[in-house]
Amino acid sequence: MRYTARMARILVIDDNDTMREGMTITLKKAGHEVLAFRTGAEGVTAFVSKGADLVVTDLKMDGVTGHDVVKQVRAHDAQAVVLMVSGHGSITDAVQAMQLGACDFIEKPFPPDVLRAKVDAALELSRTRARVVKLEATTEALSSELSRKGGGTIVGDSAPVLKLLAQVKRAAATDATVLVHGESGTGKELVARMLHEQSPRASGPFIVTHCAALAETLLESELFGHERGAFTGAVKKKLGRFELADGGTIFLDELGEISPTVQTKLLRVLQEHEIQRVGGEDTVKVNVRVVCATHRDLKAEVAAGRFREDLYYRLHVVPLELPALRERPEDIGTLARHFVAKHAPRINGEVKSLSAGAISALCRYAWPGNVRELENAIEQSLVFAEGKELEEKDLPAFLQSAAARATQTQGALPVPHGDRPLPDILEDLERQLIERAYEKARKVKTETARLLGIKTSALYYKLEKYGFIQKGERPPEE
Ligand SMILES: Nc1ncnc2c1ncn2[C@@H]1O[C@H](COP(=O)(O)OP(=O)(O)OP(=O)(O)O)[C@@H](O)[C@H]1O
Ligand SMILES: [Mg+2]
Repeated sequence: MRYTARMARILVIDDNDTMREGMTITLKKAGHEVLAFRTGAEGVTAFVSKGADLVVTDLKMDGVTGHDVVKQVRAHDAQAVVLMVSGHGSITDAVQAMQLGACDFIEKPFPPDVLRAKVDAALELSRTRARVVKLEATTEALSSELSRKGGGTIVGDSAPVLKLLAQVKRAAATDATVLVHGESGTGKELVARMLHEQSPRASGPFIVTHCAALAETLLESELFGHERGAFTGAVKKKLGRFELADGGTIFLDELGEISPTVQTKLLRVLQEHEIQRVGGEDTVKVNVRVVCATHRDLKAEVAAGRFREDLYYRLHVVPLELPALRERPEDIGTLARHFVAKHAPRINGEVKSLSAGAISALCRYAWPGNVRELENAIEQSLVFAEGKELEEKDLPAFLQSAAARATQTQGALPVPHGDRPLPDILEDLERQLIERAYEKARKVKTETARLLGIKTSALYYKLEKYGFIQKGERPPEE
C-alpha cells in the first residue's frame, strides 16, 4: 500500500489563493500529502495521471467548474471521492454537486477543524470503496483459480523426495524468489503452495497466475492491473495480481512463456518491489514473494535469446528441481495408495486398498505425465472397480498386462466380436463407458466429464450423440 492507514493523497482545487493555501496547510498538518491546483482542468489532469484518495474542490471557478470536476473525476474512476467546497448562498449548487456524485460539501467560511472532520469522513468512505474494489478483484482472481486443485503435501519417501522436502522447508523460511522446474505433472504447483504455507507469509494471500493461458496484453493487465480507459474494454480500474498478493505470495506458473514486455516489467518488480498499472503513471509499492514454475529449460531459453538473462538470474535465486516419477519408481506404490485414500470416499466408497498385482502393473509403466497421470489413472480405475480392493483389471487398459486383460469378466466391458468395422466397435465401447460413468456420477454432467477426463462441452456432444439426453438440452446445474 502506498499510504499508512491515516495518511492519504488529497487534491485541493480552488482558484482563491488564500482558501487554497489555507486548506493545504490544514491538511498537510494532519499528515496528508496534498497536491494543490488553481484550476479545475489542472486538478483533473493530475487526478487522471497520479490518482488520489480524495479530491477537495471549490464549486465556483472559471472554466472547469466544481461540477465539471466531479463529473470528469468520476468518469475516470467511478469510486473517486470528491468533497465540494461552496460559497455562501450556493447550497442548491452544492446539492446538485452531490447528485453528480460528490460525497459531501462544506460551506465557506469554515474553521480548520470542520475541514479536518469532513476530510476524515470522506477518507473513510474512500478507504471503504478501495476495500470493495480489492475484494471484488480478489473474489474474481480466486474464482478463476478455484477449478485448479490445491492443498495437500508432497507424498513419497524416496531419496529425491526427501531431499526436495528439506529444500522446500529451508526455502520457505526465507523470502527468496524460487524457480521450480520440472516436467508436467511433477507437482510444481503443489510445491509452490507448500512454500507459501510453510512461510511466514502463510496468513497472507496466495495468488496463482497461469502465464501461458493469457495473451500478452491480457497477462500484463492481469499481473499489474490497469487504469480505467487504459485500452478498449478497460471500463473500470482493475487491481493486478501483484497488488492482490500484497503481504503474501504470487505463483507465476508457466513463466517460460512470457513475452519480452512482461519480462521487463517482472524484472522491475523483483528489483524495485514496485509496479505500474497499465495506462497509469503512478508507481505502487508491493510486498510480494515470487515463486515461479516452468517445464522449460530457462537457461536454454536465455541462450536462444528468448528469455532475459538478468531476469533469469533474479528468478534463479533458489532453484528447485522436481524429479520425474520414473526417476523414483519406489514412490509409485505409496502415491497410488495415497490417491486411493484421497479419491475413493468421493468416487467409490467400497474400495479400501490396492492389490499387489495392481501396484506391480503401475510400476511397469514409465509415467510420462508423472504424478498427475498416476492420479488420473487411479481416479478412473475407482469408477469401475467393484470390490474392496482395486485390482489390475480395474486399471485403464494401457496399464494392464495381456494376462489381466484376458481375465476380465463381470463388470468389465464386453469385448466386441464379429465382423463389424472397427469404428462401430469403438463407438460401442465409448457409449458403454459413457453410460457407466454417467450412472456412477448420478447423471451430474460436470462430475461425469471429470470422471471421464473430458470437457463438459465434449460430454454434452457425446450424450446427445448416444441419445442419453435430448438435443440442445442444457439443464440448470451447468
Ligand atoms: N509428490 C506428490 N504427492 C502427492 N500429490 C502429488 C505429488 N506431486 C503431484 N501431486 C498431485 O498431482 C497433481 C499434479 O500436480 P501439480 O499440478 O502440482 O503439477 P505441475 O507440475 O504443476 O503440473 P503441470 O506442469 O502440468 O502444470 C496434483 O493433483 C498434485 O496434488
Ligand atoms: Mg502446474
